[in-house]
Amino acid sequence: MSAKLRKRNRHDTNPGLVFVTPGASQGLFAVMQSVANPGDEILLPGYHWPIHLQQSLLAGLRPRCYPLDARRRPDLEALDRMAGDRTRVLLVNTPSNPTGAVYEREVLDGLLALAQRHDWTIISDEAYEDFVFAGEHVSMAELEGDLPAEQRRVFTVFSYSKSFAMTGYRLGYVAVPDAARGATLQVVEEASILSSPTPVQYAGLAALDAMDDVAINRELVRTARNSLAPLVSAGLLDRLPEGGWFALLDVGALGVGAEEFAAGLLDSEAIAVAPARGFALRPEVDATGTVRSVDADPATARQLRVAFCGLPASVERAARRIAECASALR
Ligand SMILES: Cc1ncc(COP(=O)(O)O)c(C=O)c1O
Repeated sequence: MSAKLRKRNRHDTNPGLVFVTPGASQGLFAVMQSVANPGDEILLPGYHWPIHLQQSLLAGLRPRCYPLDARRRPDLEALDRMAGDRTRVLLVNTPSNPTGAVYEREVLDGLLALAQRHDWTIISDEAYEDFVFAGEHVSMAELEGDLPAEQRRVFTVFSYSKSFAMTGYRLGYVAVPDAARGATLQVVEEASILSSPTPVQYAGLAALDAMDDVAINRELVRTARNSLAPLVSAGLLDRLPEGGWFALLDVGALGVGAEEFAAGLLDSEAIAVAPARGFALRPEVDATGTVRSVDADPATARQLRVAFCGLPASVERAARRIAECASALR
């Protein structure tokens, strides 16, 4: 794994700093447990994978969402202003679920500079690293590679589920910044899972010898992603997603709410899409860590997430039908 990290991610590390985990999910969970002091704040992207939010709360962290600009990149000035006494962790996810944005190197440089200035730990979720269709995937850890290990701050989380289509195996890995942070993560892992199952780890080793299959997988998803073009023509999507498996549609101009549009698609077309509300929740957490209320970013009332990781022909058919339903409503 460390050889892959060096070659593919330009992250010069060693096997002692890489943890094999039952999926990226458990890796993320364990990292949050290992860095969190109850009451500390974690900064999550305005649109995030809901599990990031749930894991933050389970770790006793208080989540706060940082705004994204019109291209779904972090608004660095706003993020800078969010720094407070208890702010400790910054979560970055590129390629992004649910927005499909792929952050450029300059954006990641800006995020790292902010984290260094405010002494934040970075959790970089790179589960979709192999699905980039415009631009390139840059690993956050590469950018701090010239620092001594003890001055590094990036935990990077990877998954076998996407690149190798091995979701059911539950396999992922975490690269930690240095041995001290690794020792704390080891305590969490020993107290929760001990280790990932050995047969699954052998399956993961075999997968690393089949990198050509990753390219085949990516090209399938790229074909499916390109077939979302009717959604762009229909004005539901401003551009094709740059990476990942998902895109956010805006149905605001159709005079119908996202939930209603999604329910209609399911009923009449058997097409499942996810109203965006659940990807932009803003919980109010009090001093004891209790969640007092949960609102969502109001913009999500008109947004939906579509997944394009299915068979290209099915995705193409669904995209065409969604565009037709939209034009019938206009
Ligand atoms: C952003 C992101 N990170 C991590 C994961 C989880 O990956 P795994 O199956 O390895 O737990 C997902 C799965 O949907 C995801 O969207």
